[in-house]
Amino acid sequence: MSATHSLPTSADELLETGLTGQWYLVCRPDDVGSTPVGLTRLGRNIVLWRDQSGTLQALEDFCPHRGARLSIGSVCDGQIACAYHGVQFDGAGVVRATPSTPGSTLVGQRLARPYPVAEHFGAIWVFFGNGTETEIPPMRFPDEFTSGEWSGFVDIREFDCNWQLVRDNQFDPAHGSFLHVGTHILAAGRKDVDMAFKETERGFVVWRTNQQGVNLDKTWLEHFPGSGFWAITDLPFPKREGGGLARLFRFPTPIDANRTLVWNYRMQRLTGWKRDVWRFLYRTTVVPRGAKVLEQDRVALAGVPKNARAREHLLPIDVGVSRIRRLYKEAAERELAALAGQRQAAE
Ligand code: FES
Ligand SMILES: [Fe+2]
Repeated sequence: MSATHSLPTSADELLETGLTGQWYLVCRPDDVGSTPVGLTRLGRNIVLWRDQSGTLQALEDFCPHRGARLSIGSVCDGQIACAYHGVQFDGAGVVRATPSTPGSTLVGQRLARPYPVAEHFGAIWVFFGNGTETEIPPMRFPDEFTSGEWSGFVDIREFDCNWQLVRDNQFDPAHGSFLHVGTHILAAGRKDVDMAFKETERGFVVWRTNQQGVNLDKTWLEHFPGSGFWAITDLPFPKREGGGLARLFRFPTPIDANRTLVWNYRMQRLTGWKRDVWRFLYRTTVVPRGAKVLEQDRVALAGVPKNARAREHLLPIDVGVSRIRRLYKEAAERELAALAGQRQAAE
């Protein structure tokens, strides 16, 4: 299969549409059924469908015959049939039939590009490789997902901005006391922020030394190579609403250079009837409130111009933003080096 993407020449250019060699959340499980669905993620077009057994399949949304979008085709016997001339592919990208030309030599060849796809924790995830991987890493989640003690849901929505603005926002707990003060859950707390920073085993933590458990007072990174730079934050509920803590888990999925899929797992450490109450309250109370908060982020980020980074003046509150930018840049440089090495080896 020939390369379908021109190589980026700098870390900044690479980061416009995101790091590869990583799993990304791409959509909700209900978004994909037995008819093909075309999505753009990381600036790439992919097509997803479910076969007869409900198993997810994903290919590049490009027909190797003459380039039509496979997503305008149909699913037949679990395979995808291109709408243009009917060539059929299985989920591994192998041509299974060429109805216009029985006995064609294309049959049996792997001509379409497959994408590893999986369903986990209420979402569909796709591995976006760059061709330098020797194997697909297993998807890894923060421990709260698998401990059995936490329960929650994922909220998924689109923002009209580059994903790096969302990433910066997610490592910036100080903005909770300003941008979100008008909301029900982030109304409390002081304005002055004394931000501390510490490296941890899987990343780092930033926290306010002069306030904890009141607003967005602590955010930490858990980096799982191949499975994302997770931004995790504790979100306290007001005491008059029973108190307690929700924990947010997220990292942005680039759609293209100008749009981002923003997703947030909101989880609580609860068991028994308390868990049932939380799951009920989630739909009636948490979703609308969370939507309000996210709308404030969306509006603020949509207004940030493309060249803002070149003109910004950071404050001590931005220590988490600086560090996460650096970590992504280093990862982008590693990816560029791997791509250059591969190109050299091919020459
Ligand atoms: S372009 Fe797909 S079958 Fe011709
Ligand atoms: Fe926010």
